[in-house]
Amino acid sequence: MTDTAAAPARKRLFIRTWGCQMNVYDSARMADVLAPLGYAPAETPEGADMVILNTCHIREKASEKLFSELGRLRAVKRRREQAGGRMVLAVAGCVAQAEGAEITARAPWVDIVLGPQTYHRLPEMVARAARAAGAVIETDFPVEAKFDHLPEAAGGQGITAFLTVQEGCDKFCSFCVVPYTRGAEFSRPAAAVLAEARRLVAQGAREITLLGQNVNAYHGEAPDGATWGLGRLLRALAEIPGLSRLRYTTSHPRDMDEELIGAHRDLPMLMPFLHLPVQSGSDRVLAAMNRGHTAAGYRRLAERLRAARPDLALSSDFIVGHPGETAADFEATLALVREVGFAQAFSFKYSPRPGTPAAGAPHQVPEVEKEARLATLQALLREQQEGFNRSRVGMTMPVLFTGTGRHEGQIVGRSPWLQPVHLRGPASLIGRIAPVRIAAAHPNSLSGLLAAGEAVRHDQREEEPAPA
Ligand code: 5AD
Ligand code: SF4
Repeated sequence: MTDTAAAPARKRLFIRTWGCQMNVYDSARMADVLAPLGYAPAETPEGADMVILNTCHIREKASEKLFSELGRLRAVKRRREQAGGRMVLAVAGCVAQAEGAEITARAPWVDIVLGPQTYHRLPEMVARAARAAGAVIETDFPVEAKFDHLPEAAGGQGITAFLTVQEGCDKFCSFCVVPYTRGAEFSRPAAAVLAEARRLVAQGAREITLLGQNVNAYHGEAPDGATWGLGRLLRALAEIPGLSRLRYTTSHPRDMDEELIGAHRDLPMLMPFLHLPVQSGSDRVLAAMNRGHTAAGYRRLAERLRAARPDLALSSDFIVGHPGETAADFEATLALVREVGFAQAFSFKYSPRPGTPAAGAPHQVPEVEKEARLATLQALLREQQEGFNRSRVGMTMPVLFTGTGRHEGQIVGRSPWLQPVHLRGPASLIGRIAPVRIAAAHPNSLSGLLAAGEAVRHDQREEEPAPA
């Protein structure tokens, strides 16, 4: 990124990001907010004028990780001061939201603690931190939406881009901190989403992934004042010239409505890969988790989605060892996995999050049992993922090329199912979609050969040049 002539003296900004894609997106937006103050990205915290730790609280030992990193940064900050400089140290994200002043009590060398809804106020906080003797702490959920106050993204995100359309969650799953750290469900107006999407495409994006903690709960204000669900929003986004692919994550089975399923049937550019967390295959555990759906409901949903889009592959999240989970409940999870079949999945041991209902629930599952169940589940999921990858061998599929590979002459792209695809080919294909014949499957990727001239089935507009 370059500074403009009008920008103040160049300062160095280092951001470390933990957790989900939402945090990655938020980190980019914090960099955008700070750019007009002269902050440009730095590769390391050493010598930086500002360091932001963007934290995640969703599982295990988030605060221990944070405090050990803060311990290291204390020394970096001290060296910077000894050299006559200053380093502003900020803690952002969900741990900041959850722990607030606790952080500066334990690490008084932290200058700013800011929750996820306050990023647009960062310049003001930096100015206050420069003046104040104590730390600046901002963890309210302000009434005004931060999105209205964030500047337009500066440099663009490249060929594949993320766009936050929704934040927060009102579902209150028994195990989850998100409703407490990210606050109530909020959807951005459709016009703002469409404008940001057009900008991303103008900056070179060919694929956009819509983000939200509960993205399919989206209910944004439409340009005509009505309310649009995610299916309707996707239809509008699909009209943007130059955009070739759409995805969205993360969804809740309860919010998968007819219109959204219809979008999977009607929009070829909506990629046939859906992350739809089920968490467990046992109705007892799903009820204890307050998920609001049953295992049979999830199976039916998978069938309806596949009826709408036959090549659709599913991905999921699982938690093993939720309080009260018996061996039989865990068997039900394995049965669901075998029946539904997943192309990819994330699985976790239940980890008690302070303040959530499950943390204080009786019948906590012993650690060794959680470990054994996780190993069993992961072996099955790995087998399914490898089987899915192998099932692509011999297929010709459209690949969106995103960059060069590690080896000379190699380029890398992504398949419609989000698998990385490696092959030998010209760098001129980067930013374009071309058909690839898959020759080999690996545990986490595919490789193949350019199949010029062959028909591409999945993408609508593979030959349209990216706009300048
Ligand atoms: N323990 C373990 N896994 C959790 N997740 C959320 N909270 C917890 C927890 N307390 C998992 C869920 C969710 C994913 C993002 O993280 O599976 O879908
Ligand atoms: Fe957490 Fe459940 Fe909301 Fe997902 S739906 S963010 S797991 S409370």
